[in-house]
Amino acid sequence: MTVQRALGIDVPLVLGPFGGLSSVGLAAAVSDAGGLGSYGLYGYDPDRITATIAALRQATTRPFAVNLWLPTGDEVTPDAVDVTAAAATAQPLFDAVGATVPALPDRFLPDIDAQLDAVLSAAPPVLSVVYGVPSARLRAQTADRGIRLVGTATSVAEARALDEAGVDAIVASGAEAAGHRVSFLARAEDSLVGTMALVPQVVDAVTAPVIAAGGIADRRGVAAAFALGATGVQVGTAFLRTRQSAAPAGHRAAIAAAGDTDTVLTRVMSGRLARGIPNEATRTLGAGARLPFPAQNWLTGRFRAAAAAQDRAEYLSLWAGQAAALARWDDAADVFAELAAGLPR
Ligand SMILES: Cc1cc2nc3c(=O)[nH]c(=O)nc-3n(C[C@H](O)[C@H](O)[C@H](O)COP(=O)(O)O)c2cc1C
Repeated sequence: MTVQRALGIDVPLVLGPFGGLSSVGLAAAVSDAGGLGSYGLYGYDPDRITATIAALRQATTRPFAVNLWLPTGDEVTPDAVDVTAAAATAQPLFDAVGATVPALPDRFLPDIDAQLDAVLSAAPPVLSVVYGVPSARLRAQTADRGIRLVGTATSVAEARALDEAGVDAIVASGAEAAGHRVSFLARAEDSLVGTMALVPQVVDAVTAPVIAAGGIADRRGVAAAFALGATGVQVGTAFLRTRQSAAPAGHRAAIAAAGDTDTVLTRVMSGRLARGIPNEATRTLGAGARLPFPAQNWLTGRFRAAAAAQDRAEYLSLWAGQAAALARWDDAADVFAELAAGLPR
């Protein structure tokens, strides 16, 4: 079984979901081109999920994916955190964008069951998940509704666990990738396998078709991924820098300017390990106390929202992957055409 058949798409190129930065227009553009546009629903409440899936349906008649983060069980709740020290560390960043440290909310994240109910009711063509293995119940519910289910692995053990759960396809995400390192069986710091090593080992270990992700930004990366046994490719950074993306202009410019060694893995922005370009925010937060996930993500989210409105890149999460310098195109159609040129004929 190939990724194309498993997901019902014509071209096995996947736009990665961007939690907090996805756009309906970019997802629809990739789906319309025959690939699979994905939309990240991280942090969305059920009503927003329903509205977003409706908007995606309106924007494209082709298959698309939505993405959720599964709970790992170690998420802190508001009653369990004292923000005083972390807020003091972040204070200069709040001051810089003219924002104030907010009062603690009732909850940091929407209830996952309510999010899943909204997804299941809207029945998108594909649901992809990170940070865990879908339950047998979710597998059955998605199958009942004709929703294809995709899991994400950062190690062979995680890929095996997803395969046993019967997912339709597995994203094998190498450590080059932008954004969060979505490991769930071991610490992210202990799961930093690169795409070149990870993909063939996952291919050998599972029966589900494998989508290679991480560090792929041009035709050479696509050809390499297929040579390694993947039958699909997921790309983030190269699409994030295009004008169809929802990233602020300063974020897109930072990707365009990044060289091979210009990204780092850090926990300071969200409390979880993620790859991006260091800036004033990471330097300031790295110098003092911080909170665990998702409290830190909530805290930094308050100054990041103001920074995004002002397009001030020094105060954003500048998620980007190691192949940022290979991402040279400003239009999503050009990225897609470049990637497609690397597919086997
Ligand atoms: C801003 C940003 C947000 C992301 N959020 C998510 C997410 O919510 N869920 C997910 O599965 N992957 C997420 N990713 C990872 C991408 O979907 C994709 O797998 C990754 O960017 C591929 O590596 P590349 O950037 O080297 O192409 C995110 C990436 C970025 C840049």
